[in-house]
Amino acid sequence: MNIMSKIVGMGSSVPKKRLTNFDLEKMVDTSDEWIFTRTGVKERRIADPGTTVAELAAPAAIDALKMAGVDSKELDLIICATSTPDMMFPSTACAIQALIGAAECPAFDLLAACSGFVYSLSVADQFIRSGSSKTVLLVASEIYSKMINWEDRGTCVLFGDGSAAIVLQANNNSEGVLGSEIHSDGKFGSFIKAGGMPKRHNFSSEPQVEADYFVVMKGSHTFKVAVKKMTDVSLSLLEKLTISPAEIDLIIPHQANERIMKAVAKSLNVDEGKVFNNIAGYGNTSAASIPLAMTEAYMANRINKGDLVLTVAFGGGLTWGANLIRF
Ligand code: UT7
Repeated sequence: MNIMSKIVGMGSSVPKKRLTNFDLEKMVDTSDEWIFTRTGVKERRIADPGTTVAELAAPAAIDALKMAGVDSKELDLIICATSTPDMMFPSTACAIQALIGAAECPAFDLLAACSGFVYSLSVADQFIRSGSSKTVLLVASEIYSKMINWEDRGTCVLFGDGSAAIVLQANNNSEGVLGSEIHSDGKFGSFIKAGGMPKRHNFSSEPQVEADYFVVMKGSHTFKVAVKKMTDVSLSLLEKLTISPAEIDLIIPHQANERIMKAVAKSLNVDEGKVFNNIAGYGNTSAASIPLAMTEAYMANRINKGDLVLTVAFGGGLTWGANLIRF
């Protein structure tokens, strides 16, 4: 029998603090008008100093488990997609495992920057299809605010903090992840990058951190590649599954820039109304952006039973990928 991974629970959790474009006008040489017309962002959430990525994630995970009717002890795998972990180790997934009281299931982080969710969903789906796991918690949680240079207007207006989670369960009735496709190309690693890691061992006991700690991005280069790769991977996945773009009920793209989302919809020849967009309220929350948007779309009845939903993302690495899900 064909085993599929069905999404049975969703949850999200964002910090209370809002940082508006008007707040940013007082911090760097920018304007609400520039930010909104170039990106679609109006405000973003910022975690309190000291809040960990795992603490931000735990309420999202608990809500997703509640919706699924699953006890944390039943989980047999936890994957956390993050590129802003609290520590090198223990992993953020292990920290979340402790916070939600899960049993001794495997837990690991997956780092694919803004493509973290589509990558993790592909990996979780392999665990379920192979029979290794029956019930999987996938959490995506990011605190980019700690990695942003708040004097760099080219990046500080874009990113925000947030978490979201889904629970996947093995299922036999053709609902769930129909397929995924993921790619990377390390040649273009310099397009978006962040340091933050200790330097090579130099026999010193002083903490040493890379000089290029902050997120840096070649914005317009990234923009062009993002549109092309998100379009290409969507078409390639749909072709493999013999589904046409016209059959998709909703596209949930990574929320990096409203103009990128519109350009991808145009290239796929899909009506903009079928593209879910909540970037105005959160900015780019990296790996968390797709599940955050998915949870919001579901709660707003934009996703119904039987719907075909395409998720597609692009990010540092460079990485990109897509999943097609039958709800
Ligand atoms: O999530 C991972 C993937 N990330 C992405 O896909 C992000 C992709 N890139 C983008 O979204 C866009 O490239 C940005 C939003 C980052 C920039 O928009 P753009 O239309 O590509 O602008 P640009 O970088 O070509 O800059 C145009 C002008 C420049 O001024 P000059 O040289 O024309 O005088 C910039 O200095 O806009 C200036 N600028 C700003 N002005 C006001 C750049 N940032 C700002 C700002 N406020 N915040």
